[in-house]
Amino acid sequence: MMDDLKILPGYFDAEAQRQLLDDIRTVVRAAPLFTPVMPRSGKPFSVRMSNCGGLGWVSDKDGYRYQPQHPVTGRPWPAIPHRLLDAWAHLADYPGPPEACLINFYSSTAKMGLHQDRDEETFDAPVLSVSLGDTALFRIGGTKRADPTRSVRLASGDVVVMGGKARLAYHGIDRVMAGTSSLLADGGRINLTMRRVTPGR
Ligand code: SIN
Ligand code: FE2
Repeated sequence: MMDDLKILPGYFDAEAQRQLLDDIRTVVRAAPLFTPVMPRSGKPFSVRMSNCGGLGWVSDKDGYRYQPQHPVTGRPWPAIPHRLLDAWAHLADYPGPPEACLINFYSSTAKMGLHQDRDEETFDAPVLSVSLGDTALFRIGGTKRADPTRSVRLASGDVVVMGGKARLAYHGIDRVMAGTSSLLADGGRINLTMRRVTPGR
């Protein structure tokens, strides 16, 4: 089925993970984590978010969308760190750079329900995601919500590439396994998801 799903365990080694974490700390100082809410219901996500890149993904009462500014500070998102752009250039097999990088921060109790990434104008580019910190139980299925799913552990440094038939696969995070990594002093998990939003280079 999802033969276009690639999981690359340990793509970022321990030193690269620390450097990436430093990069993300710099981003989050300029663009602080915020708590998105679900459209309509206004229910808060358990995950806190920020973004880097020309566009950032946000969710509020009006819906899901990409926008060039941080919803709280009103400032443009910081640039995507070069280490992430390098990974995209190496793995995405797409002629242009990513336009958005969503930063998800999971405390030990946070999770993310099964969903498709489909707020983009193009699905030609893969979604490339990087895990840092505590291991997560990632659930991945098919392009229909009712398709069978399987569960994969994502550890710090692992990269997932969802391209081709897997680009619109349902996925989510069932739980974070506290104490499985010492990268983040206070525990938790960071997921960095790079996406192309518009077609072209
Ligand atoms: C997401 O689908 O936005 C996040 C996936 C993850 O945390 O690995
Ligand atoms: Fe997603």
